[in-house]
Amino acid sequence: SKKELQVAIDGPASAGKSTVAKKIAHRFQYVYCDTGAMYRTVTLKAMQEHVPLDDAAALAEMLKTTQIEFKPGNPEQLVFLDGQEVTMAIRQPDVTNNVSTVAAQGTVRKDLTERQRKIADAGGIVMDGRDIGTSVLPKAEVKIFLVASVEERAQRRFKDNAEKGIHTPMDVLRDEIQTRDHKDSTRAISPLTQAADAIRLDTTSLSIDEVVDKISDIISKKQKEFA
Ligand code: CDP
Ligand code: CDP
Repeated sequence: SKKELQVAIDGPASAGKSTVAKKIAHRFQYVYCDTGAMYRTVTLKAMQEHVPLDDAAALAEMLKTTQIEFKPGNPEQLVFLDGQEVTMAIRQPDVTNNVSTVAAQGTVRKDLTERQRKIADAGGIVMDGRDIGTSVLPKAEVKIFLVASVEERAQRRFKDNAEKGIHTPMDVLRDEIQTRDHKDSTRAISPLTQAADAIRLDTTSLSIDEVVDKISDIISKKQKEFA
């Protein structure tokens, strides 16, 4: 039988990580783990409970009694916080604009990294985020670093928003993406950066299917090395 691999997909905001990661997990029958959703869920709870978003100790305390679960849904996987479904709530713009502050706290990163490694113990896994190849799964057999121009990524977010009835102007979206990328790339603990052994893929002028096919080829080749 084929070796079950760890596939790490990292990159900046709206590069297409979660969209392609889901499709790849489905194609290979691997577990999909959206680590961004975990940082978003912690951010949502801290906002609801008025925990200061840069208070590392208070966030660590809050995490002791925080349950984050993924459950299969149709078509999308569902996210639960302490038993309540928060799949849509964690995509709200106020969560998006605060998540980088929470994600910079070392206590939060340590806690969520442990949870992510436990999920990866299951076997074949596709995990997407910012520090998967560099920190969470440094031994992943396949590491992909997805990038796209800021303009293209702002357009993708604009389209996503329009479908949800949100009408944020393009210049605001460009600005939000650049601000979040800057915060994620410059934080002290496991910042967004390409792992030395990651394959960089520029998706600016590629369709989703083209990206999925390229990554699937890389995974299939890797599986043959272990066959
Ligand atoms: O989908 P989108 O690009 O908006 O972001 P996401 O993957 O949902 O991640 C939201 C935020 O969580 C990022 O901007 C990072 O601040 C943080 N994050 C992180 O620090 N480490 C990860 N492995 C995943 C996300
Ligand atoms: O997870 P991340 O923030 O990296 O991006 P995403 O939420 O998966 O993707 C943002 C949007 O880009 C989605 O609406 C995708 O349909 C679209 N898109 C893509 O992911 N890849 C392409 N090659 C072209 C478009």
